[in-house]
Amino acid sequence: MSRLVLLDDLLCDLLQRSGTFTDSVRQIVHALAKAGEQISQKVHQGALANILGNTQQEQENVQGEIQKKLDLLANDILIEACQHAPAIVALASEEMETIHIMEHADPLEKAAEKYLLLVDPLDGSSNIDVNVSIGTIFSVLRLSSDTPMDRNTLSAAFLQPGTQQVAAGYILYGPQTMLVLSVGCGVDGFTLDPIQNAWVHTHPNLRIPESTQEFAINTSNERHWYAPVQRYIAELKAGKSGPRQSDFNMRWIASMVADIHRILMRGGIFMYPADLRNPSRPGRLRLMYEASPMAFLIEQAGGAATDGRKRLLEKVPTALHERIAVFVGSKNEVERVTRYHTETTETTETSEGTN
Ligand code: AHG
Ligand code: MN
Ligand code: MN
Repeated sequence: MSRLVLLDDLLCDLLQRSGTFTDSVRQIVHALAKAGEQISQKVHQGALANILGNTQQEQENVQGEIQKKLDLLANDILIEACQHAPAIVALASEEMETIHIMEHADPLEKAAEKYLLLVDPLDGSSNIDVNVSIGTIFSVLRLSSDTPMDRNTLSAAFLQPGTQQVAAGYILYGPQTMLVLSVGCGVDGFTLDPIQNAWVHTHPNLRIPESTQEFAINTSNERHWYAPVQRYIAELKAGKSGPRQSDFNMRWIASMVADIHRILMRGGIFMYPADLRNPSRPGRLRLMYEASPMAFLIEQAGGAATDGRKRLLEKVPTALHERIAVFVGSKNEVERVTRYHTETTETTETSEGTN
């Protein structure tokens, strides 16, 4: 049997081959993988590790969502893991209103490489207690080495468009625990061998087919959607006898990580549009630690990602916890639903995807 390729082997290989991949980024990915191993262990123990349910005081995060025990545990594990990646200067998370500046961040250190990390520590929180796949999402940004290290400047330095990501990915806690990663040269998947605590390179060079017969959207919101989404989904649901002359299947796991993983495995389109309920809220998902890293992976695998009108990765964030409409996956379908938005006349034009 040929020797198994492990995450560390691939990272070392990338380091040798690439002019841009640095040892600091290798350390960061390694630290995230270690955090993933610990979170995975807790997830798989479930009730046995007393990690199910809400926090005792039913604390809310900055988005007004009640935090689950595992949301906070995963957040703590990730902060702790960053101690082993000294190039990470600061961390932003769904579960923290403001950035966390690492203790090892030296305000006088000017020359060294510096990075910022964004995480959704536990994606799919509503699935924790029902034993359905959940995940961790991460995004790594470069910090210019002469950036002053005060809190305001560092907070502002996070607001970079997704095109600037140095690395992005997720860890999926499903029937298998998998790390899916891009450092800007394709997408690779690794499966955790829980006996050896080793990440085995099981899914090299993931590619998303351009066409698909499968879509993912929470149709319980259908009555609130704007016209372009209503039209697009109605056509898919009409199947063979409708304008698309083809049947489409639907899947919705309600963990973005798991839905995106399916799309990376076999194609599909994932949507979380803005809707009429709150025109000032451009979608449910957060730009910087949900939409952007996933858009990076999807594009790196040959798919497309927009906010309904524009390329998602070019969106310049204005706030850490900003939300955005998301249309990602197989190219032909993302292009079609995006065209339906841009073709929309002035009278029906809405705030969707324009913020
Ligand atoms: P989180 O658990 O990090 O708050 O994210 C949940 C997100 C995303 O993973 C998922 O696609 C979506 O919320 C599910 O939304 P619905 O509850 O509307 O289905
Ligand atoms: Mn999430
Ligand atoms: Mn979350």
